[in-house]
Amino acid sequence: MISVPVFLAVSMAAAVAAGGNGAGKAAAGAKLAEAKQCMQCHAIDKDTIGPSFQKIKAVYSKMRNPESKLIDVMRLGSDAHLGPLWTRARMPDGSERPPISDREAKQLARWILS
Ligand code: HEC
Repeated sequence: MISVPVFLAVSMAAAVAAGGNGAGKAAAGAKLAEAKQCMQCHAIDKDTIGPSFQKIKAVYSKMRNPESKLIDVMRLGSDAHLGPLWTRARMPDGSERPPISDREAKQLARWILS
């Protein structure tokens, strides 16, 4: 059996690695969005090719299960809601962008909603 202090240290290290605190989480989310090329078409606070993440948050945070809806969009692109809604451009589906794992999709969804 592992002792409590060791267990705590390990889980804290894991939390830090995953962006455990607020600022760390935001930075990790931003870094991931950058790495997955989301920022080529999105910015945090202004509309570019796609809507700003702040706007997306404002709309999705009023929905039920926003996290899973956001994950659908990341996987399917605009087809998740049957075509472009915000702009005339389409959000590409997962096959046209760097692949994201389920874990990364969840992290990005949480980051957008945070
Ligand atoms: C090639 C450009 C492009 C890239 C790359 C891109 N997006 Fe988008 N995204 C768009 C456009 C354009 C829209 C608006 C689509 C619409 O109106 O349906 C959009 C919409 C969205 C939405 C809103 C969903 C909705 O209601 O339509 C989310 C969430 C989103 N993108 C997240 C991401 C994330 C996360 C990434 C990176 C993994 C990403 N996007 C990469 C262009 C892009």
